[in-house]
Order: sequence, then structure tokens, then C-alpha cells
Amino acid sequence: MAIKAVRGVRDILPSETGKWQRVEAAARRTFEAYGYREIRLPLFERTELFARGIGDETDIVKKEMYTFEDRGGDSITLRPEATAGLLRAYIEHGFQVEPKPVRLYTAGPMFRYERPQAGRYRQFHQANVEALGEPQPAVDAEVIAMLMDFFRELGLVERLALHVNSIGDTADRAAYIARLLEYLRPHAAVLCGECQARLERNPLRVLDCKVPDCQPVIEKAPSILDSLSPEAAKHFERVREYLDALGQAYTVTPRLVRGLDYYVRTTFEVLTTELGAQNAVAGGGRYDGLIERLGGPADPGVGFAIGLERVVLLLEDHDAASRPFVLLIPLGEAALRRLLPVTRAARQAGVAVELGYGGRKLPRELERANKLGVAYAVIAGDNEIVSGEAVLRAMGSGEQRRVPFAALAAELVGLARKDGAP
Ligand code: HAM
Repeated sequence: MAIKAVRGVRDILPSETGKWQRVEAAARRTFEAYGYREIRLPLFERTELFARGIGDETDIVKKEMYTFEDRGGDSITLRPEATAGLLRAYIEHGFQVEPKPVRLYTAGPMFRYERPQAGRYRQFHQANVEALGEPQPAVDAEVIAMLMDFFRELGLVERLALHVNSIGDTADRAAYIARLLEYLRPHAAVLCGECQARLERNPLRVLDCKVPDCQPVIEKAPSILDSLSPEAAKHFERVREYLDALGQAYTVTPRLVRGLDYYVRTTFEVLTTELGAQNAVAGGGRYDGLIERLGGPADPGVGFAIGLERVVLLLEDHDAASRPFVLLIPLGEAALRRLLPVTRAARQAGVAVELGYGGRKLPRELERANKLGVAYAVIAGDNEIVSGEAVLRAMGSGEQRRVPFAALAAELVGLARKDGAP
């Protein structure tokens, strides 16, 4: 029996990679325009980094990590997200001496043992951005605006909604959790099983529950915005003012809590209504105190991650997969030898060339040219070698003309340029 890919893990096929490349290029362009530099990080880290960074009580650390002991006896975890590893690198390489904020981005696969469904996978990809060492609320607003510029560049911004919130500082949150528990406990019986467990473990997550039965209770829950300290409230007010100044629309959503424990003050998410339950395409926030908790300096930070699978799912299929521009069809061995150097010269000049290898008859090769969707075919047999000219056929119109072998590569390069084709 053939071996299949692991459940929740998917291949990104050639028919999809055009979209992926577009998304990755848009991310790179946008982030670099804002001064972010790329950092490439390992796919696995010491388990302790995530336990300390993301929080022992989070779903991610409690039940979603791919953790194993390596042959040396160390506990290793495939990264479920990139922030903890990026901060580990920031500390390890002494980035704190650089001018603040230190702006870094990274992209690649993440691993979470979640129940797979449309838009949710066990290996998925994120583009991740962090601005480190700057406490000012203007950075929060700038980071959020950049995220939305990324979606604008892809033409998706109209189909998405930006939600922002503040979950206050650690003490504010502790006070709020006490209030929330006081409110929720009397309603515990009507909450779903998962929420009843969360009540004890991580009550904030109740606000995030999607189960219909829980909604009436959640809707009447006290707002975390009423529990903010004056400093945290001021910070949030500034973030909103700067977003207004940047012309960035948003909705304040007090129930927006995030699934990772490191956030303080600003949190945000970008949601779509088009992907069913997996409606978050990006999320992030501020995490002052986390760098210090990981053994580094007391530098604050703010950032986000984009779920690339979900962005790709939103893109239309019109991105034509890259296809060759021309098929060279030698009829016989002598013609193959005559066309090989032409093929090489055209490819070196950047033209995408497909080649027949001399063994098939002309009708079969023309059929292949149609299937490949090439703009031109070049046909050469023994007669053409004698005359010194190959036949150049425009596949659309079927029009044919003769081109000397010596001029063929340059002719193809010229046609490809005129076409804007590869
Ligand atoms: P997160 O909300 O856990 O945040 O993940 C960010 C995004 O990754 C989600 O909004 C979603 O689009 C995508 N995502 C998460 N899990 C999956 C999955 N199983 N399959 C497909 N896509 C998924 C973080 O990871 C934080 N590190 C973000 C951050 C960076 N905060 C500050 N800096």
C-alpha cells in the first residue's frame, strides 16, 4: 500500500504555488517598506522556551505541541509559533544594543496538534513580524497599519475586518479575571463542557468560545476595558488615535482575547466571514515583559502573525500557474542536436522553454504544445536543417514563418519580452 501524508499535513501543489509566491512577495515588499529585516529561525527549540513563553495553561502548550526527546535526552518541540523563538534569538545575539525598535520578520512552517479542518492544519505557515524595544503606542498602530497594508496589496482588505482590544497590564487582567469569574460561576451550568473546564483553567478563553449556547452568557459578560489601569487605558486611547490618524478603520471588540498568555495591553485580530469557523487570518498584540521572562533585557515588544494558508484560501484562482513560453520540437536526432544550443541560449536569457527530445511525431508534439499552453512552437526536421531555417508557429493563430537557426534564440527572447512572458 502506498504511504500517505500525515493527517492535517498537506502538500502545496504546483497549481497553488503561484498564489503562495504572490502572498510571500507581498509580505516581503510590505514589511521591508516599513524597515523590517528578515531573520530565519530553527523549526525546533527547547520545549522549555514555549512552556515559559506561551504559558503552561494555554491550549497550545497543554495539548497541541509536537514534543519529543532527542537522542541526547533533551526535550525538543517543533515550534507552534514564531515569537518565542524570535525573542530567544534576539536575546542570544544581543539585538538589544541596536537602535530601537528592532524590526524583524520571519516566515515558515509552524506545528500544532489541532483537529484538522478547512483552514486548520497540523503543519501550517505564518508570516511573523515583531517590533522590539519600543513602548510607544504609535508602534502598535504602525504595526497594525502595516498588517492591513499587506492585505491591501493583495486586494483583500475589503473582505476583512480589523478588531482591536486592550487586555490591560498583568494586574488589570488579574482583577478582570476575578470579576469575570464572579459573573460566570452562577452561569456555569449553561456553558459548554469545554467552557466549564476553562472556567477553572483559563477563564478568559470562555470569551472566545464559538458554541451557540454560550453566546448569551458571553454577550453580557463584563468588559475588560472597564478594568484597565489609567496607564493601560491611556495607551489604548493613543493606539486608537494613531490608527485614526493613519486612516485605518477598526472595531473595538472587548471580547477579543488571544490564545497565548504573553499579551499585555493591545491585542488585535483580522477576521473574515468566508472561511467558516477558522475566521482569523492574522492575530497579534503587545507582549511587554516577555523578553525579560525569557531571560533577556526588559525590552517591550509588539507584533503579529498571518496565517498564510487562510490568506491563500481567500485569493481567487486567476493566478495562472507559470507555464513555458515556447516548445521546441525537433523531429529526429539531427534536429535535436541543432536545437539544443538554441534551447540553452534562450533559457539563459530567462525565456521558459520546453523541449521535445526528438522521439515523438509532430501531431503528438503539437498536442503537447496545446496542453502546455505555450504561445509558440518551433518545428525543425531534416528539411529545415538543410534549408538552415526552423519553422516558428504562433499557437493561437496557427500562423507560421521561417527563422534562421542562428537568429532563433534572439527571436524567441524578443517575442517573450514583447509578450511580457517568462
Ligand atoms: P496565533 O493567533 O496563534 O498567534 O496565530 C496567528 C495566525 O496563524 C492565526 O490567526 C491563523 O491565521 C494562523 N493559524 C494558527 N493556527 C493555525 C492552524 N492550525 N492552521 C492554519 N492556520 C493557523 C500567534 O501565533 C502569535 N505568535 C502571533 C504574534 C506574533 N503575536 C505577537 N507577535
